[in-house]
Amino acid sequence: MFITFEGIEGSGKTTQIELLIPVLQAKGYDCVLTREPGATEIGNKIRAILLDAAHTSMIPLTELLLYEADRTQHVHEVIKPALASKKVVVSDRFFDATTVYQGYARGFDLDLIQQIHHMVLGGLKPDLTLILDLPAHDGLERAWQRINSRSGGLPEDRFEKEALAFHEKVRQGYLTLASEEPQRFRLIDASRDEQTMHKEITDVVLELIGVKGQ
Ligand code: TMP
Repeated sequence: MFITFEGIEGSGKTTQIELLIPVLQAKGYDCVLTREPGATEIGNKIRAILLDAAHTSMIPLTELLLYEADRTQHVHEVIKPALASKKVVVSDRFFDATTVYQGYARGFDLDLIQQIHHMVLGGLKPDLTLILDLPAHDGLERAWQRINSRSGGLPEDRFEKEALAFHEKVRQGYLTLASEEPQRFRLIDASRDEQTMHKEITDVVLELIGVKGQ
């Protein structure tokens, strides 16, 4: 079982994943929690390059290929082995993020991105993708509150520094994907409180696991 979480900055993906995993574990499911970018040793180095706001000279093609390099390593080292041993894999972002951020928002050709995904993923696709949806303005406000309350560490705010219009395109991109493939995507209204969202997400995930007989 492969579940991915997507959404704009500040949509609460990471919090919701942290709430979901213990519920699944308490029910006896062996879970692997992972993320993009940065789930492997190589990926962590790529993440630092990608999210460093000092890298203002990074051109969009470099960005696209770095995300795909991170993903290639992630699929090989983490996702495929975990799925082969029947684990429940939960990833904080996956290939839809590239379609949306580098495709819909940066403007890369969507067919080109699809071809790269064919090469990187083969036939691998999540069973379920939860999109935590809220207006870009609200998400960004939350994301900046989080960044400003954090002290020390590497700054990872290259994307938060993008204009609001960029994040609106990201949001619209996710909504387009969800409407094109409704059987895989589930939209979660992320303007609600954490516990209400958690309950809906848990219900959706447990129902799917039940149906698939994981
Ligand atoms: P996050 O860890 O806060 O989700 O940050 C990852 C950032 O990288 C986020 O701004 C979205 C961006 N991103 C892309 O632009 N393309 C991708 O393929 C992925 C996985 C993330």
